[in-house]
Amino acid sequence: MASNSVFTATLAMLCLASCISAHNITRLLSNYPEFSIFNSLLSQSKVADEINHRQTITVMAVGNSSAPAFSSLDTDALKKALSIHVILDYFDDAKLAKLAKNTTLLTTLFQSSGVANDRMGFLNYTKRHTDGRLLFGTAQPGAPLSSAFIKVVAVRPYNISVIQVSTAIIPPGLGAKPQEVPIAPPTPPPAVAAPEVGPTPADGLVAESPDESANAPVLSPVADAPISDSPVDSPANSPTRAKSDDADVDNSSARKVVFGAARVFGALVLGALL
Ligand SMILES: *[C@@H]1O[C@H](CO)[C@@H](O)[C@H](O)[C@H]1NC(C)=O
Ligand SMILES: *[C@@H]1O[C@H](CO)[C@@H](O)[C@H](O)[C@H]1NC(C)=O
Ligand SMILES: *[C@@H]1O[C@H](CO)[C@@H](O)[C@H](O)[C@H]1NC(C)=O
Ligand SMILES: *[C@@H]1O[C@H](CO)[C@@H](O)[C@H](O)[C@H]1NC(C)=O
Ligand SMILES: *[C@@H]1O[C@H](CO)[C@@H](O)[C@H](O)[C@H]1NC(C)=O
Ligand SMILES: *[C@@H]1O[C@H](CO)[C@@H](O)[C@H](O)[C@H]1NC(C)=O
Repeated sequence: MASNSVFTATLAMLCLASCISAHNITRLLSNYPEFSIFNSLLSQSKVADEINHRQTITVMAVGNSSAPAFSSLDTDALKKALSIHVILDYFDDAKLAKLAKNTTLLTTLFQSSGVANDRMGFLNYTKRHTDGRLLFGTAQPGAPLSSAFIKVVAVRPYNISVIQVSTAIIPPGLGAKPQEVPIAPPTPPPAVAAPEVGPTPADGLVAESPDESANAPVLSPVADAPISDSPVDSPANSPTRAKSDDADVDNSSARKVVFGAARVFGALVLGALL
């Protein structure tokens, strides 16, 4: 009896931690202005709703400077392309690096739609052995590994992870105009930490929306700062995290804390059961 009610109470507490705030990808990403275009595309296409209904998911976000790759797609293709950026499992950098195989296929939200063909519903994830970089590409045969992991943006272990990748992944078969598909060399670029740093493409793309870039002169250089290995030090993250009402964390030591807390909770539940 007693242990039963303790169990119920523990369940209620767990529910406080998780049930009340199912994730809201729109709200989560709104803390990171760098992804504002990607975020609004998710809402516009309603892919955000599908993300919110999944319990264990990874969103591969692309920064503003890479987002124009989506602009050549019609409504239907846009939804498909965005769905390819949603992996139906939880992956943060640690979990990706620890996958047993150094190349594997990951199932995306697009696959679950049932209309994907030619392996377009899967991502090819490959950990390049020469430099350990984590690369992604559509699993469509012949397509390059065109996108690289940049950093963890926010995680809520083990339900939702948002990671940044260098370029949008748009399978040639989706019907984008060829010149607007991000062209990647046969071997992925040897760029080091932050492929978005290159001033030329970023500037060119930002120039398409002069108003916003004029309004955010401070944000742009900060968001582009090549600090992907130590996101904590990035001033872009600190203020947004402070005002975030999601309990998202974005560095590994913080994740360890969360993980430790989860273990303590697990122990509590076990204790209550015994
Ligand atoms: C997080 O995932 C666990 C197990 O996968 C699930 O029981 C829990 O309800 C999820 N929490 C949320 C907020 O979705
Ligand atoms: C998610 O957050 C956005 C922005 O805060 C809000 O407009 C939207 O209604 C929220 N969606 C849900 C399902 O709560
Ligand atoms: C991203 O683009 C949007 C829309 O163009 C803009 O409002 C926002 O300030 C940009 N964010 C950054 C960090 O450049
Ligand atoms: C992923 O792509 C690489 C390079 O094209 C290829 O060698 C590898 O076999 C692919 N992985 C899978 C699981 O198909
Ligand atoms: C995967 O690992 C094997 C050995 O562990 C290595 O021979 C192979 O080249 C690796 N492949 C890649 C794409 O890194
Ligand atoms: C990571 O974040 C936590 C709290 O969010 C902070 O205490 C810790 O110092 C950060 N890690 C590093 C390496 O700065």
